[in-house]
Amino acid sequence: MSVFQAKDLSVSFGGIHAVREVSFTVESGEVFSIIGPNGAGKTTIFNLISRLYDVDSGTLIYNDEDITRVSPHHIAELGIARTFQNTELFEQETLLKNLLIGRHIHSRTNIVSEFLFLPSVRKQELAFRQAVEDVIDLLDLQSYRDQHISNLPFGIRKMAEIARALCLQPKLLLLDEPSSGLNPEETEDLSFWIEDINEELGVTIIMVEHDMNLVSRSSNRVLAMADGKTLAIDKPAVIQNHADVRRAYLGD
Ligand SMILES: Nc1ncnc2c1ncn2[C@@H]1O[C@H](COP(=O)(O)OP(=O)(O)OP(=O)(O)O)[C@@H](O)[C@H]1O
Ligand SMILES: [Mg+2]
Repeated sequence: MSVFQAKDLSVSFGGIHAVREVSFTVESGEVFSIIGPNGAGKTTIFNLISRLYDVDSGTLIYNDEDITRVSPHHIAELGIARTFQNTELFEQETLLKNLLIGRHIHSRTNIVSEFLFLPSVRKQELAFRQAVEDVIDLLDLQSYRDQHISNLPFGIRKMAEIARALCLQPKLLLLDEPSSGLNPEETEDLSFWIEDINEELGVTIIMVEHDMNLVSRSSNRVLAMADGKTLAIDKPAVIQNHADVRRAYLGD
């Protein structure tokens, strides 16, 4: 069963065709990676899915629902969460606070009931906190929970960014270059976290990545792009040996 479908997505900025007629389908439970040289249009695809950008043409389908024009808020409510290539965390807040803020969209309460602090709100707040603690436990972030983001090592900030997205309890998680800036050991750890998130939590993942080892290790299928266009969609081993991909991306 497919969870997500992109059909003929296109978007331009001025004269730049950032994404041109890109189509792909992501199956339930898959780790689907998007690779391509700098400027290929990978992040733009995430910005289209998370509805930060409008498509010029094409359709986005999530669980049979057309989400091409829904609000970013609704995207989160539907269970689609993302990380950002450059972590988007509140530097002067603790990790815990960042996660609690990130989870706020799951709140069904309004300002008035929050002000009155109704029992239902309290119950919801306790459930939020539990979910956040579960994510902290899952990603082994206990020792950092009360530290300010600005004091955390880079590798932990990257995990904090993933944690923030996971607190939304997504069904579909978009990871934009989760390994960038990580050393080989941290990247290997990341591959295990990705496996846990995918298999233990049952989250379908779309991952933009440059590290081909991580891509090969973690992904079921790969979309290779260049200049906004699809080069190939296939299993990692096939992609790595694909003539067009090697030319465009691997520099052969
Ligand atoms: N908001 C925008 N305004 C103008 N141009 C944009 C905008 N967003 C993306 N682009 C352009 O679209 C193209 C694709 O950018 P995108 O960020 O999707 O690339 P990418 O594949 O994620 O690259 P990288 O690997 O460097 O992150 C680039 O030429 C970029 O400059
Ligand atoms: Mg990018």
